[in-house]
Amino acid sequence: APPSVLENCLEDSNSETCPDINWEDIGFSLVPTDYMYVMKCAKGEKFSNGNLVRYGTFEISPAAGILNYGQGIFEGLKAYRTEEGSILLFRPEENALRMKAGADRLCMSSPSVEQFINAVKDTVLANKRWVPPAGRGTLYLRPLLMGTGASLGVGPSTEYTFLIYCSPVSNYHKGPLNFKVEEKLHRAISGFSGTGGIKSVTNYAPVYPATTEAKAEGFSDVLFLDAATGKHIEEASACNMFLVKGNAICTPTTDGAILPGITRKSVIAIALDLGYQVTERPVTVEEMLIADELFCTGTAVVVNNIASVTYKNTKVEYKTGSETVAQKLRKTLLGIQTGTVEDRKGWTVRV
Ligand code: COI
Repeated sequence: APPSVLENCLEDSNSETCPDINWEDIGFSLVPTDYMYVMKCAKGEKFSNGNLVRYGTFEISPAAGILNYGQGIFEGLKAYRTEEGSILLFRPEENALRMKAGADRLCMSSPSVEQFINAVKDTVLANKRWVPPAGRGTLYLRPLLMGTGASLGVGPSTEYTFLIYCSPVSNYHKGPLNFKVEEKLHRAISGFSGTGGIKSVTNYAPVYPATTEAKAEGFSDVLFLDAATGKHIEEASACNMFLVKGNAICTPTTDGAILPGITRKSVIAIALDLGYQVTERPVTVEEMLIADELFCTGTAVVVNNIASVTYKNTKVEYKTGSETVAQKLRKTLLGIQTGTVEDRKGWTVRV
């Protein structure tokens, strides 16, 4: 077997020295850790021989495909510390497959599922002192895949870099969530011809005018509507949406414009197991406005109630608190992720 890439960093990675930080206060801001994982390959070839290197800045050609033409995608997943001190990943294969789908869409080479999962495990082990204690946060992993070959002409890059860095995180949002329905900008074009369904780096900055304005007005995030009709809800800037009416839960169909969230998919399965009726279909703004409860899901946001939505200057409030469907789903999901609820679906992977 090839020598473990962990040998490069055994000294630090074996260190159990807990960083002296207040885990709860870090929110979702970058905390630099010890190592990052890097693996490169030439266009048309397969990835091999990744390595752990010190976390930090790295060199890239000014003519790299990612910098000039946006040839890049990312993923997000978390490592969870259990009560016993071991570390679990949640459905990393799903992230690997979604990265592969995004890579195919943008004509990039991608790591195999096995390479992806092993690289994630190595990154976690090399940074294990940064995995927060049970119940106090998680280690968020950010795999990137980008065109790093230099080229002035428009076209697929001649070299690809797969990189994973990580940061401990706690809550993504602070306080109750108040969303604003965005009526001018759209996150993605409708249907499968756009890139709304992959984690393309180009999906995020184009909506900064909307999110910046909403945040300045005191909102937590914006909720996007479909570009074709403006009548259906899609997703917020970093999470999928669900609504609850009685015993029924529904969420917009991932029709190419909506990111197929792994938390979304897991929450659907958990809700069905708990006896809720769950449907995936187009969801209109009108039915959202008369729902009992509204919640969002995502790796970063987990599962969270939305306290209010403002549409055309009218604010609608929703049920929140520990008795909500969202909180029941959140408890089960977090229980599986941290090993306190039996994982009957084989979703967790021990690092
Ligand atoms: C995640 O939840 O992991 C995401 O990728 C959303 C994000 C842009 C913070």
